Amino acid sequence: MTLYFRQLLAGRDFGQKTPFAAQMENFVYLIGDRDTGECVVVDPAWAVDDLVAAAAADDMRVTGALVTHYHPDHVGGDIFGIHIEGLPRLMEVAPCPVHVHRLEAQGVRAVTGLSASDLVQHDSGDVVQVGKVGVELLHTPGHTPGSLCFRLSGALVSGDTLFLQGCGRVDLPGGDSDELFRSLAKLRGLPGDTVLYPGHRYGGANAPMHAVVEKNPMMQVADLARWRMMMG
Ligand SMILES: [Fe+2]
Repeated sequence: MTLYFRQLLAGRDFGQKTPFAAQMENFVYLIGDRDTGECVVVDPAWAVDDLVAAAAADDMRVTGALVTHYHPDHVGGDIFGIHIEGLPRLMEVAPCPVHVHRLEAQGVRAVTGLSASDLVQHDSGDVVQVGKVGVELLHTPGHTPGSLCFRLSGALVSGDTLFLQGCGRVDLPGGDSDELFRSLAKLRGLPGDTVLYPGHRYGGANAPMHAVVEKNPMMQVADLARWRMMMG
């Protein structure tokens, strides 16, 4: 098995002509097995044809999608009065199963208009197999109820749960500050050499977890009472 892993920044590496893509600084990931030529796309949004083409340029084909959470800048939909392309376009150009946490399924459907049969609903600990590459799903609620992080050999794709600097907002519908505190505690327990790959380029593109724990103030809050004060 040879791991295929690409981190693509919206507005720079793809979707260069898509309005607002650059401002939002979303990362999309392609993860797969070079030997079988299969890959999944994490949070396909902004310019889906570009993402499918990026995979094809590497002789890879998209065989699935993984969803960190249901916000339109990650799955497509309408936000701030703009329309963001996403999962519906993927269903047209490269139909494939869309893997979500079961608590996120309703939100994903509401935002994208996908049907229940498009989705594969998961629990924490499930592994999505991409060729011989296994991607483990970690439930990390807080930013949204069904937020997921994806773990694979030495890497964690964290969506909006954790950035190099800061963490996801909890003031949007479904956000829960106490849940996020517990989720971040779970991530603090990962091996320090695990490389963090966030859902936005807030403070950087990637870093080993030991450096994130050291530098990100949100990872340094040890007790819930202090956390609640910090989060207002
Ligand atoms: Fe989000």
